[in-house]
Parts: sequence; C-alpha cells; structure tokens
Amino acid sequence: MTEIKEFERLGNIGWSENFIVFESIDSTNNYIKQMCDVLSDGHIVVSGMQYGGRGRQGKSFYSPEGGLYMSVLVKEPRKVCEPLFTARVCLAVCRALEELCGSEKGKEIGIKWVNDVYYKGKKLAGILCERHNMPDGKACVVVGIGINLKIDRSKMPRELRSIVTGVFDITRKQTDRIKLAVSVCEKLKQVFDVKTNEQTILDEYKQKSIVLGNEITVIKDGDFARVRALDISPDGALLVKYEDGLVGKLSGGEISVRLKK
Ligand code: BTN
Repeated sequence: MTEIKEFERLGNIGWSENFIVFESIDSTNNYIKQMCDVLSDGHIVVSGMQYGGRGRQGKSFYSPEGGLYMSVLVKEPRKVCEPLFTARVCLAVCRALEELCGSEKGKEIGIKWVNDVYYKGKKLAGILCERHNMPDGKACVVVGIGINLKIDRSKMPRELRSIVTGVFDITRKQTDRIKLAVSVCEKLKQVFDVKTNEQTILDEYKQKSIVLGNEITVIKDGDFARVRALDISPDGALLVKYEDGLVGKLSGGEISVRLKK
C-alpha cells in the first residue's frame, strides 16, 4: 500500500509513523480529541472529506471531497509548551506548499495572521490548533490543517467562491493527498526541532506575513476597526496602529482580520 510506504518515511525522520486514513469523518480534530489517551505523540489522522469540519472561533470549515483534512496529535510536553506554536504550524504548512508549488509560485504563498495560508489574496489553507486536557490531566495539542486541493466552485457555498483557492489552481496538477500530509509532517518535524529557535520562527513568520505594513480591518465581538498592521511581537501578537494614532496589541483568540479589498 502506497499510504503505508509514505507514512513509513516519517518513522525514518523520527516522527511517529502511526496514522489513520478515513474517506470521510465528522472532524479529524474531534477524532483525535476523543482518542487522545490511546493515540501516541505524532499520530496523524487524514480524511478525504469532513461533514463537521471546524474552524476558528466556533465557525464551520467547509470540507468537501478534494481537499486534505488532517490532524496531528502533539503530546510531547516540550512541544506542547513551545512558544509561537501556531506560527510554527503555519510555517510548516507554507513550506510544504511551497515545495509542492515550486519556488516561483511558492513566493506568493503567505500567512494571514493568525493562522490562514493565502495565495494571491485567496485562502489556500486553514489551521486550527486546539489545546486539550487528556483524561490523565496532562495537556496535548491537536493540530488541525485543512488544505484546499481541487475545489469545485460550482458546488461550494456562494460566499466562498471568490475568496478561496486550491493547489490545483496554482499547479494545474493533481496532488497526492497522502504525500502532502507526510510532507507537512516532515516540515512540522523541522519547525519543532529543538535547534530551531524562536527568533528564526518569528523572522520567517514575519517575512511570510501578508498583513504587515498594510491597512486591515480587525473584527472583535462584531466591532470593526481600521488599523495598520505594524509588527508581530515575540509572543505572536499583532501590533497595530488605530486611526487615532493609538497602538494596540492583538492576540489571536477572538479577533478576525480582513484584508483591504
Ligand atoms: C480556519 O480556517 O478557521 C481553520 C480551519 C481548520 C480546518 C482543519 S481541517 C482538519 C481539522 N479538522 C477540523 O475540523 N478542522 C481542522
């Protein structure tokens, strides 16, 4: 089975080679949460579609056939406590997608703070990292990644049609979902390596940011504010300047960002 061969590569680089592949599931994150006490660190769950895909802030994540929906269980205490956790995951996804799309097109892949991966102003992938307490009281993180591969705009909700893109739109080639999942895990291994320091992560995250230096709209509890994105602080928060000149520090949780049209 090619799937087994692919996942074996992860064992060779020192990542767990434990995996489960579903044709369809409610949510790969839910699965891992429910099974976290029996699954080992690094366990990967991949699905071809999700009927209850979840995004940030309690939103649903449209997960039709033709995408890669994966979750990875992180139990190792050092990794669970790693600063810039979500930034690391974003970089791993970007690196895997850049490799897949080639360096020229890969340059156009960027990160919309906090955790969306964009290509030419459209969403290519979303990331949901969920901290979870296991039955033994220890914390783990469920890293959920959804990557649009070949999207069928005619079937998707109207409001998404013009704001999302897929790997096929970039490469014009079919993507092997399992190979991409393994590649993402290889990159996760790199970004969580003890030798990769925070400054390196922060620099690369900033360099890939598509919001820094730009005017954006931030939305919190239904309130909108026009701001300029100034910087990302060492803890991953976004530093912004409001129209009245005040400077603020925004942390991911309940805030959404809209790019200027
Ligand atoms: C977002 O865009 O708000 C984050 C989307 C995260 C989607 C992935 S797909 C795999 C995993 N399972 C889920 O239910 N969500 C994440």
